[in-house]
Amino acid sequence: MTAPAAPVKIRLREVRKAFDAKVVLDGLDLDVLAGESLVILGGSGSGKSVLLKHMVGLLRPDSGTVEVDGVELGGLRGPDLTSFRRRFGMSFQEGALFDSMTVRENVAFPLQRAKWPKERIAERVAACLEMVHLEGAESKMPAQLSGGMRRRVGFARAIALEPQILLFDEPTTGLDPVIKAVIDELILELQQKLESTAVTITHDLASAWKIGDRIAMLYRGRILACAPPEEFRNSGDARVQQFIRGLPSGPLTET
Ligand SMILES: Nc1ncnc2c1ncn2[C@@H]1O[C@H](COP(=O)(O)OP(=O)(O)OP(=O)(O)O)[C@@H](O)[C@H]1O
Ligand SMILES: [Mg+2]
Repeated sequence: MTAPAAPVKIRLREVRKAFDAKVVLDGLDLDVLAGESLVILGGSGSGKSVLLKHMVGLLRPDSGTVEVDGVELGGLRGPDLTSFRRRFGMSFQEGALFDSMTVRENVAFPLQRAKWPKERIAERVAACLEMVHLEGAESKMPAQLSGGMRRRVGFARAIALEPQILLFDEPTTGLDPVIKAVIDELILELQQKLESTAVTITHDLASAWKIGDRIAMLYRGRILACAPPEEFRNSGDARVQQFIRGLPSGPLTET
């Protein structure tokens, strides 16, 4: 007997997005299943960050649809869009901590914006820092932290409002191999603790195999392949193989 398939959490259909003449997403279809950890691979500039921003409604498609829990984002405006976004915790590629704020203030930021009472904010900040194993760092400034610790503060801020969906844009870029492995473990740990759905963009194949229940590859504005790690690695698609092996020549062309 096969287990029933998990419901679809995020459904993208025929999503098209161009910036001026440059078509970035070109009729893209993708389902992110509830509770899974999906990894998105793709070349530099292939549109991975643009894709992630469509999931959370930070960018809108020129055509096509993005649905989360069956609700189409295109119809949401103002306060509806704001409360919708609270389902997401996003760790941006740019890292984006507020340099002039302490760790505590950084993590408290989304809670203050959501108008949480002061006492609950203090409690939640402490709980989030504990979840990313940064207890005691409340009063530090971002400049005093290592790269790995800064990422963890970003994660703590992303999980503050207990999101159902976690989005990580290149969470390990620029970190050494040991810290990378620590961050990979943390992504899985957070996803499991929060029982959330996770979408992670990475260039790092070792991370992809470790954290992905399924791996998707973005190429020329569409999903070229999407499968569990083992199946993905054994893909008969020559473009997937060139990407995995990092071969300088082959069927992949720069976009
Ligand atoms: N707001 C924007 N306005 C104009 N062009 C944009 C905008 N955002 C992205 N682009 C363009 O869309 C393309 C895809 O960008 P994107 O940042 O999604 O790539 P990526 O796959 O995340 O790359 P990287 O691996 O370097 O992070 C690029 O050519 C980029 O210049
Ligand atoms: Mg990017």
